[in-house]
Amino acid sequence: MDKFVIRGGNPLLGTIRVSGAKNAALPAMAAAILTDEPIILENIPQVRDIETTRKLLAAMGAEVELGYGRAQHRTTICCRSLTSPEASYELVKQMRASSLVLGPLVARCGRARVSLPGGCAIGARPIDLHVKGLERLGATITQEHGYIEASADRLRGAEIVFDKITVTGTEDLLMAATLADGETMLQNCAREPEVADLADLLNKMGARIEGAGTSTIRIKGVSRLRGAKHRIIPDRIEAGTFVIAGALTGGDLNVVGCDPSHLTVVLQKLAEVGVRTASAGDSVRVIGDGALKSADIDTEEYPGFPTDMQAQYMALVTQADGASMVTENIFENRFMHAQELVRMGANIKIEGHRAIVKGKTPLSAAAVLASDLRASASLVLAALVADGETIIDRVYHIDRGYEHIEEKLRGVGAQIRRIGEIFPKKAVPTAVRA
Ligand code: EPU
Repeated sequence: MDKFVIRGGNPLLGTIRVSGAKNAALPAMAAAILTDEPIILENIPQVRDIETTRKLLAAMGAEVELGYGRAQHRTTICCRSLTSPEASYELVKQMRASSLVLGPLVARCGRARVSLPGGCAIGARPIDLHVKGLERLGATITQEHGYIEASADRLRGAEIVFDKITVTGTEDLLMAATLADGETMLQNCAREPEVADLADLLNKMGARIEGAGTSTIRIKGVSRLRGAKHRIIPDRIEAGTFVIAGALTGGDLNVVGCDPSHLTVVLQKLAEVGVRTASAGDSVRVIGDGALKSADIDTEEYPGFPTDMQAQYMALVTQADGASMVTENIFENRFMHAQELVRMGANIKIEGHRAIVKGKTPLSAAAVLASDLRASASLVLAALVADGETIIDRVYHIDRGYEHIEEKLRGVGAQIRRIGEIFPKKAVPTAVRA
């Protein structure tokens, strides 16, 4: 298992480029199921979850072509025939977002068999709202042997009010409704930019969707969708992580290739902490020259402070003067990084879904364990300012969602290297046709 060895203390200086958003790329790949024509996706990040989705689609019978060379961030998916509309436990347990194929499969094939995801490091994360919504669209759903089986001759448009805001739930039903008979109105939808990006792609495919990015989405069902080409939006969470890295290390970092309008609340909060940033076009420059002061956050659905930035923010405020209260409202168990940060010298007390971080405490290198994707990012950030050499174990978590993070950080002056490959990496085939 790979580890990162990080020697802290270097300010990050220069330009760092943001990749495409993993959480926009995953539903876009699932959307390819809805048509028998090719879908060409650009700005696809090279991360493990994308590879898992490729395997998932290939196992159903899709042709998935990965770009190479200068086109390495392009992928073409063609679901001409889907011989096996299934998502196996083997793949779903690796990536919960696999449940995104449920809606598109029922809509396109009239049936789907998708493994239930089971527990997760950050919370229970059920998919009951996906299932309830599909039932409202007329699917018959049964559950047996850990699998959900859904079937419908043709889905029917319906009015659906989500009991709770869910990102992939909104995306799943949005995709299903595009091919339904009649009009669907989804209410209390997630307003994340990734939902709007998916709707953009679906509209290019011939869907008739209005209101994506707001809490009410109206979909007029069509009988068929066609191929399309689409560029995935930049990853706002990766961008936010790099901005915090620049601030924490007292650097001067230009985070380019991002969309600052997706980071409004994060940048506002960082300003409150004393982090100076300047946004222009597709970049955010962070100048980490001031003292940091405490500020509280509450995670919320978009446009609120993202839960996916909570762990990184916690690392930041370990270096701020005063007490910061970090309240996690989306997931029940998303504080696994806190105890690892404490091992590095942070003063953090957890009370239910709140963490109180008292700073500023010097951080010192330790051997720590990454527990999930964003927790790993927070440990990398802490290690960048810790005294000595931190070893972060289980970095496969970070590889799920951050593209070549060690190379990107090294490029702006971080001392970070990957160890643990006993055998040299096998040459990866440059193009794979499944
Ligand atoms: N929920 C239910 N029932 C459902 C669906 C969700 O109770 O059927 C609950 C969840 O347990 C949670 C809340 O609703 O408490 C919100 O969960 P949501 O469904 O919005 O999360 P998700 O769609 O599974 C996506 C991202 C996550 C991100 C969350 C919240 C993708 C692929 N994943 O997950 O990203 O944290 O939204 O913004 O888009 C990450 O990238 O590290 C990550 C975990």
